[in-house]
Amino acid sequence: MNVLLLGSGGREHALAWKIAQSKKVEKLFIAPGNGGTLTVGENVNIAATDFPAIKQFVLNNGVNMVVVGPEDPLVKGVYDFFAGDPELKQIPVIGPSKEGAQLEGSKDFAKAFMMRHNIPTARYKSFTSQTLEEGCKFLEELEAPYVLKADGLAAGKGVLIIPDLAEAKQELRNMLDGKFGEASSTVVIEEFLSGIECSVFVLSDGNGGYKILPVAKDYKRIGEGDTGLNTGGMGAVSPVPFADKVFMEKVEKRIVIPTIEGLKKENITYKGFIFLGLINVKNEPMVIEYNVRMGDPETEAVMLRIKSDLVDLFEGVAAGNLASKTLEEDERAAVTVMLVSGGYPEAYEKGKVITGLDAVEDSIVFHAGTTMKDGQLLTSGGRVMSISSYGKTKEDALAISFKNAQKIAFDKKYFRSDIGKDLK
Ligand code: AMP
Ligand code: GLY
Repeated sequence: MNVLLLGSGGREHALAWKIAQSKKVEKLFIAPGNGGTLTVGENVNIAATDFPAIKQFVLNNGVNMVVVGPEDPLVKGVYDFFAGDPELKQIPVIGPSKEGAQLEGSKDFAKAFMMRHNIPTARYKSFTSQTLEEGCKFLEELEAPYVLKADGLAAGKGVLIIPDLAEAKQELRNMLDGKFGEASSTVVIEEFLSGIECSVFVLSDGNGGYKILPVAKDYKRIGEGDTGLNTGGMGAVSPVPFADKVFMEKVEKRIVIPTIEGLKKENITYKGFIFLGLINVKNEPMVIEYNVRMGDPETEAVMLRIKSDLVDLFEGVAAGNLASKTLEEDERAAVTVMLVSGGYPEAYEKGKVITGLDAVEDSIVFHAGTTMKDGQLLTSGGRVMSISSYGKTKEDALAISFKNAQKIAFDKKYFRSDIGKDLK
């Protein structure tokens, strides 16, 4: 079959790498892709949210399945666009409906969903400019630090954690006044939870069938020791030592099953990835957030640990018989270390020549922000490439990634050399 993957980051290169290994796949297209995806498939110069252009491409190129990488096309309704078009409705889209994508697109929707289905999460209330005063009172009931979240998508910047009450009240006003535009016209205020986070990925077939993929932990801050600004992700490890059998049984029973059943009960079509951003509070898993896609850079580690044919699993999603498929995990650890442009996540330069890829041994390099120009590979983003490796232990795997991270060169390259070191 022919598969079209939407997106252009490191996550998409990792998905493309795994999809291309499937015996079922004849042609893999990536729209728009990057300098790495073109080594495993064919890049197509179409934006992931340009639905009319995607339709033409799919019809002209005999595409049999569409896999969606990022949240944007999902929140904008790419699933529904296909399902509602007589020429496209036979072609499965791996991703939730627009309604299902609200689990990421609206924090208020996600929290209310969790309440309805008794899924453990921080206590919360939502406020608008009409209820600003109540919002300030609710803040007084909580203890510091205060967690304020823009309801809508705010490019990963919509969550503020504020130590001081007066400042939290001021930020609530600012947010309701449009600090994050329309995204913060509703603000979720919630109790602060203290613990260590991990990412659990679930593939759902919309019919009650699901598979829990290998668990991972990502590293969001730019600086070593988890300091400095938040980034799109500096590295990831899988498995996660504290997410052991007992913990994962709690996750499945208290979070995964109620989520899958809740979606079904509410007739929300969900045939795709569910990303549970979890926090371990004294060995009890609680949900920090839902995302409706795979994580980045977690995917660059998780794909290494899936032995089964991913496209076979996607067929199970499309047919609604995922429960009959097997998901085999690789026992080895897998890690990924992100190389970024100096200055990121603030201002940084692009167009730097990347060398040393030929010297990489025993790692898989997933491109995030690269482009091929006149036969030269150049940086084109803040996160440039992710170095993924296997190991008997995560320490072994990290040693390989760090060694190869040294071999790749571009002007002002930076990476965190403490990925995974906080975990026993
Ligand atoms: P989100 O965009 O919801 O993932 O939030 C961004 C980050 O803020 C999360 O990854 C957490 O580290 C942190 N965070 C969000 N909600 C809470 C909370 N209730 N308690 C503690 N930390 C939180
Ligand atoms: N790694 C976190 C995310 O993809 O949102």
